[in-house]
Amino acid sequence: MARNKVTVIGAGNVGATTAQRIAEAGLADVVLVDIVEGLPQGKGLDLAEAAPVVVHDARVFGSNDYADTAGSDIVVVTSGLARQPGMSRDDLLTKNAGIVRSVVEQAANVSPDAILIVVTNPLDAMCHVAMEASGFPRERVIGMAGVLDSARFRTFIAMELGVSVEDTHAFVLGGHGDTMVPLSRYSTVAGVPITELLPAERVKALEERTANGGAEVVALLKTGSAFYAPAAGAFEMVEAILLDRKRVLPCAVMLRGEFGVDGLFVGVPVVLGAAGVERVFEIELTAEEQTAFRKSADAVRELVAVLAR
Ligand code: APR
Repeated sequence: MARNKVTVIGAGNVGATTAQRIAEAGLADVVLVDIVEGLPQGKGLDLAEAAPVVVHDARVFGSNDYADTAGSDIVVVTSGLARQPGMSRDDLLTKNAGIVRSVVEQAANVSPDAILIVVTNPLDAMCHVAMEASGFPRERVIGMAGVLDSARFRTFIAMELGVSVEDTHAFVLGGHGDTMVPLSRYSTVAGVPITELLPAERVKALEERTANGGAEVVALLKTGSAFYAPAAGAFEMVEAILLDRKRVLPCAVMLRGEFGVDGLFVGVPVVLGAAGVERVFEIELTAEEQTAFRKSADAVRELVAVLAR
């Protein structure tokens, strides 16, 4: 039986690190694709040359040609531009939409049965572009943001309480931006909600640090943005799908009435397995949480409206 095949588009920081995780876990053969000549080939060869030391037999190589990606089970989209000085949010939105549209069209053309995992920001809007460009059903177009935001929340919870990250659980829903909704009531340490373990002001401080998580890393790095945790998030989704694990993970999916939202990609808990999004995992929200979730969905709607203009 052939090994699974995963294409990672964008051989930058997030893409190369995602490729490394997948290959080194021996999970699938990996094709790294970029528009820059030599970049994916160089990183692919470098990753392949680590294999005898790390010990795995996954095939990994880079290419500028989508023909090499044909028959992929999963395509992870990380290609895009970072926001440059003087570039508005809307400029970035339009530029990355063009990149995502072009790469998804080419990849979907040769891998019509693939599952797309979108990582490029602004995430929720890029999911819309990917869905349109591929023509894939919603089960097979999934955005990686909630896993990252929840991982950040879990990190801060573990630090605050001096416990293992393994015993933390967190749900961060909504759009991947300032309006994201960390659900503290559903965020636990060994099953106990953090709202019962910490005073309200500490819970609020952790929520705020989570919502600001990407910016905190950017401010420290000065150039570039986070990539280890985003790559770990993408890897977790790839693994859940290839191993048909039925993991319950927060992901951006096209909602069709669930959580009171219709026709928008927003982060919600889903069951991830071999078919992609196998189910939206609906949970009860309080009136206050529902308001925050709607507000977050409205922010996504505005970005999608800019793209439609
Ligand atoms: N086709 C293929 N690759 C492209 C294209 C294109 N049309 N346009 C740009 N790229 C490539 C770039 O050449 C670069 O190698 O995408 C890569 C992006 O890599 P980085 O600049 O290192 O960005 P990275 O930190 O990996 O982030 C990628 O993920 O988390 C998000 O916000 C982040 O949107 C960003 C994306």
